[in-house]
Amino acid sequence: MRTHPESAARGRPPIEAADEGPLDPHVLVVMGATGNLARRKLFPALFHLWHLHLLPERFRLICSSRTAPGTEDAFLPMVHAAMEVYRGTIDDLAWQEFARRISFVPTFEDDGAALERAVAEAAKELGNDCEILYYLAVPPSATESVVRMLGTFDVPGSAKIVLEKPFGKDVESARRLNETLHDFFEERQIYRIDHFLGKEAVQNILALRFANGIFQPVWNYQHICYVQIDVPEQIDIQGRAEFMESTGTFRDMISTHLFQLLGFVALAPPAHMDADSLHHEMIKVFRAIRPIDPERVVFGQYDGYRDEAGVDEASTVETFVAMEVYVDDWYWIGVPFYLRTGKALAEGRRTITIGFREPPLKIFPGDVNDTCNELVLELTDDPTIFADVRAKVPGAAFRLGRGRMRLALVEAFPEAEPLEAYERLILDVMRGDSMLFISTEQVELLWLLCDPLLRNPPRPMHYPRGSWGPREALRLPAEHGWRLPDS
Ligand code: BG6
Repeated sequence: MRTHPESAARGRPPIEAADEGPLDPHVLVVMGATGNLARRKLFPALFHLWHLHLLPERFRLICSSRTAPGTEDAFLPMVHAAMEVYRGTIDDLAWQEFARRISFVPTFEDDGAALERAVAEAAKELGNDCEILYYLAVPPSATESVVRMLGTFDVPGSAKIVLEKPFGKDVESARRLNETLHDFFEERQIYRIDHFLGKEAVQNILALRFANGIFQPVWNYQHICYVQIDVPEQIDIQGRAEFMESTGTFRDMISTHLFQLLGFVALAPPAHMDADSLHHEMIKVFRAIRPIDPERVVFGQYDGYRDEAGVDEASTVETFVAMEVYVDDWYWIGVPFYLRTGKALAEGRRTITIGFREPPLKIFPGDVNDTCNELVLELTDDPTIFADVRAKVPGAAFRLGRGRMRLALVEAFPEAEPLEAYERLILDVMRGDSMLFISTEQVELLWLLCDPLLRNPPRPMHYPRGSWGPREALRLPAEHGWRLPDS
């Protein structure tokens, strides 16, 4: 267990560290520190990690941005306000201790001289074993120039760089970005975040599949007849018009989060639970995905999207995607994977459904063919896994009914201290563990797969807010239909 000298100030006892030894000292540099991501996710995550005693004892947070406020005095209240909004009331003493580690240094266009000096000083102060972690929370258009600027910094200590999606917008731009990155950083120093992989429930897919003997033998085309990866969102674009107009839902969600989920469901057992083994298996899956059939893809746009401030009144950007994907390997040949996500839909869910084949023989009276045997993973913050099975209804007659086997993770492990996705992933970067991050090869393979469709995208169909998307999408999974909404 690690202890910190200022334990008392943090208002809670230290919890057991998630990993073996203490972390090396870190200077964490957040670029784009006044932006939405930093305020909504990064600062609350860092504060919580610090509060849980999971950050290194020697730690500095240097924040930078090309926009105001320009000084620390104006910046700190902004961070404090953001934390109150996204984390609730903040203990004052704990905040004072945390805030002592934060500084703000503006950057101007490509001039990062002041930032470079601040990073070098902080690194020297923290000692020889100090590591520097650059976190790019900047808009996609700024990524390359920021990488070039940071790459030329002459500072002591080894560096790591964290990037947010989208990693380019097609094969060509992704390759260009990767070349720029590799001009300054080695692959082992680069961490591409897909925050879905930091979610407890998503990592649990791996635990479920590979820490148990019951699932793996049936985890293939001989026993499974379809998979659904369904991530409807109730929220609309929430003012992110510029982002949505330039990115669209396919690049925002499908070529990133949903394909990563597909990888976790479809990958073959890795030899070890480490970055190389997992990436190797993910790459095999992405290589085996059949070219996407545009006839089996539905794009949608919610009614009223074009009236949102900042949206082109003739926009053809998709706010919804549903599609069928096949993985042509020895495990999944012939099994359709249905992917669906969109904004302004009826519910917000993250549901993976594995549909099992019917038993070969019907021997019970009243036995029917329906979609009974489904294993369902609800990837919420309160993750649940359940399996729908047929069972005998108690009583004199031999009558079948539907029952449900259920595992609720929070109930099963009441003492556990779950980490939010960003918290988990920031810790992983500090530990130097890239298992839950996306490699260069994965990025390029996914763009190779998606590019043909995106060069010639389907016309988006309209759908009403609060619905389940365009009618055409409802029909996509043929006889079984979508598992959601729950019947
Ligand atoms: C982000 C997308 O990566 O993920 C958003 O840019 C989306 O459009 C969000 O709403 C969903 O993530 P979560 O964790 O809120 O389900």
